[in-house]
Amino acid sequence: MFLRDEDRIFQNIYGMKDRTLAGAKARGLWDDTAGIIGRGRDAILDEMKKSGLRGRGGAGFPTGLKWSFMPKESDGRPHYLVVNADESEPGTCKDREIMRHDPHTLVEGCLVAGFAMGAHAAYIYIRGEFIREREALQIAIDEAYEDGLLGRNAAKSGWDFDVYLHHGAGAYICGEETALLESLEGRKGMPRLKPPFPANTGLYGCPTTVNNVESIAVAPTILRRGADWFAGFGRQNNAGTKLFAISGHVNQPCVVEEAMSIPLRELLDKHCGGVRGGWDNLKAVIPGGSSVQCLPSPVCGDAIMDFDWLREQKSGLGTAAVIVMDQSTDIIKAIWRLSKFYKHESCGQCTPCREGTGWMMRVMDRLVTGEAEIEEIDMLFDVTKQVEGHTICALGDAAAWPIQGLIRHYRDEIEDRIKAKKTGRVSAVAAE
Ligand code: NAI
Ligand code: SF4
Repeated sequence: MFLRDEDRIFQNIYGMKDRTLAGAKARGLWDDTAGIIGRGRDAILDEMKKSGLRGRGGAGFPTGLKWSFMPKESDGRPHYLVVNADESEPGTCKDREIMRHDPHTLVEGCLVAGFAMGAHAAYIYIRGEFIREREALQIAIDEAYEDGLLGRNAAKSGWDFDVYLHHGAGAYICGEETALLESLEGRKGMPRLKPPFPANTGLYGCPTTVNNVESIAVAPTILRRGADWFAGFGRQNNAGTKLFAISGHVNQPCVVEEAMSIPLRELLDKHCGGVRGGWDNLKAVIPGGSSVQCLPSPVCGDAIMDFDWLREQKSGLGTAAVIVMDQSTDIIKAIWRLSKFYKHESCGQCTPCREGTGWMMRVMDRLVTGEAEIEEIDMLFDVTKQVEGHTICALGDAAAWPIQGLIRHYRDEIEDRIKAKKTGRVSAVAAE
């Protein structure tokens, strides 16, 4: 089932309407926020759990459950909500659109979510390069304060609530939740060991929940329209509506809100004018941002865009950033470029990632030109397995998985290039 326009949570994702507070209110935002809060903390947590919302930052952890990890009894430490707006996953540009064009969805979401977890303050950590977005967001925050929607007795709910906007400085690793907390506290952004999870020991050692922008921004609408409404979209365990960011070799790249579990082909045909040169010209799709394995074209025809279907394929929904590659793509070079990225962004704190990303990139350097030996393909796969699951944070996995996908699906192409190089027949594209 396609999403109807009226079912979309983000009614101004393309910036065609008024993004100010007046425009947001006209679209139904900030409508009886005090009434939502008046239902009480437990009722909000139950409704969010019932909605089936899974975290929209990439990992898909159940949002209501995560909120419920925050201590119910006060031990004197303040509670914090931290919004991860450091959107940096290659191919991912959905949170950017929310903050740029529909910022009040996020500001209202902060108040509702903050109340549900017993927090009186939210910090929004926004990617340093997002200058226009932080301007739009700051205007929205200021408007909310002026209208009494934030601050003392926020939105006349009886709950005091402040929102602070903090600018990052351009490091991908600061999007990892504990590196983000380190950075927010004024230190170098290096991930912490988990456990303890932030719900127990987070910002300044206090109970903290770190959530993605989209996860927070959808909460007020879910609570207004009801958990059953949200859970009515998508397959079981993959509920709701979702922003997809589609880039690469489609006729019209876009960000669009659709029902979860939409077939990939329908998503591309309906919203992007199809694959450039037609479906038969498709080579591969990375369905969830650069940290997951790609899907080769024969699999794409059946692909269902949700967490569980893609996980069964050893890929993932991740951030739902769909990168489409047609037959003109040098897939080895595309994955090599990602290897360079992860090598550059590794914080260097743990050995398998620091050494492994460099090692993998250097082998990829040779695969892309065909100068490697055939035996190095298996050796590279073994190295990815030694990095995967053996690092402090998910960056190690993210560096390993795209290479595993390349080798699983395109081994013939890699071998052909090596053989061609040995016989002097390497293609111009590969030799660039
Ligand atoms: P994770 O699976 O370790 O954690 C997900 C969330 O659930 C975290 O907030 C964590 O604190 C919480 N959690 C998990 N187990 C818990 C437990 N037992 N008790 C309490 N809380 C628990 O994944 P992580 O490292 O947070 O995120 C990895 C994902 O991030 C990747 O899959 C990737 O798709 C995505 N990503 C997104 C980027 C973006 O720009 N949006 C950038 C880079 C990666
Ligand atoms: Fe740093 Fe990489 Fe270790 Fe993460 S996995 S802590 S980025 S070295």
